[in-house]
Amino acid sequence: MLSKEDAQEFRRRLLDWFDGAQRDLPWRHTRDPYSIWISEIMLQQTRVTAAIPYYSRFLARFPTVRALAEASQTDVLAHWAGLGYYYRARNMHAAAKQIGSACAFPNTYDEIRALPGIGEYTAAALASIAFDLPHAAVDGNVLRVLSRVFADPCDTSSAAGRKHFARAADVLLDRSRPGSFNQAMMELGATVCLPSNPQCLLCPVSAICRARTRGAQASFPFSSKRMKNLRESLDVFWIERSGELLAWQRPEDSRLMPGFWELPGNEQLPEAFAVRELGRFRHGITFHDYRFRVLEAILPNELGPCRWIPITSLGTLPASTILRKAHRIVSRHRSKEKPAVSHAASE
Ligand code: ADE
Repeated sequence: MLSKEDAQEFRRRLLDWFDGAQRDLPWRHTRDPYSIWISEIMLQQTRVTAAIPYYSRFLARFPTVRALAEASQTDVLAHWAGLGYYYRARNMHAAAKQIGSACAFPNTYDEIRALPGIGEYTAAALASIAFDLPHAAVDGNVLRVLSRVFADPCDTSSAAGRKHFARAADVLLDRSRPGSFNQAMMELGATVCLPSNPQCLLCPVSAICRARTRGAQASFPFSSKRMKNLRESLDVFWIERSGELLAWQRPEDSRLMPGFWELPGNEQLPEAFAVRELGRFRHGITFHDYRFRVLEAILPNELGPCRWIPITSLGTLPASTILRKAHRIVSRHRSKEKPAVSHAASE
């Protein structure tokens, strides 16, 4: 959570930025709830640029709820063809028939939410954009922005995590301009606070963003489902001579495990030349699932930050878990390599 003052500053900066930088999108020129509804349904699974031509064609053919309600399903589906996820069009058609018989477009969150094909996100987007109702809309883009601004490690892929962020979004929402606030959050997520390459230098709220302040943008949002994508392969070198091992020690002021001994990788020994693989292991650190290969390498001329340490001291030195795991793998590898004792010889 942010302090009251920071939250206020966040809203002010975000909306100032949105007022000047927002993309010119056709559904931003209207307050007609029907047109905004169509745009939100299309944007559920379709990118903005892909949705624009469909939006214009659909509205030209079905300019009102009534026109949509009175159309045949074949006609509606024909105007949806190419957008995919056809249940969206069928639900919209069914919703239009419901609205048509009620005579007016529903104008409360609960009535909107009750329509076929409308979940919490779409109901909040429509209620806020078309009717200025104070409901925070939280989609994937907004989740990313929130988790970074608060540096919040809650799991964005769990139902509990999404509830948690929905509450946070509700506190942060600008109640005087909820529709613009929601669209500004979506816009920030879609154009600046990008998943893998956030454009923090262009971000209007970077000074308030806790992930940015800690230089930890890449660690957010946390998603247990995304773990797979954070799989990374790394190599470490095992270079040994007469009972000694080449290793390097993290500086005492290192943010990560200060003073611990590590095996060198390409960064420490760029000239090391691997000759064979001794084994593999996995190691999880926060959101990363690392796959390590332990490679036997030829001693390079330049030792970089590395020093020789007695292998027997590994039990008493502060050795990182990665070094210990590699040691175990190498010991196992060596024990398999030893020639089996020949019974024939003793006979
Ligand atoms: N994605 C979902 N709704 C949107 C909107 N109104 N503007 C831009 N992107 C969106």
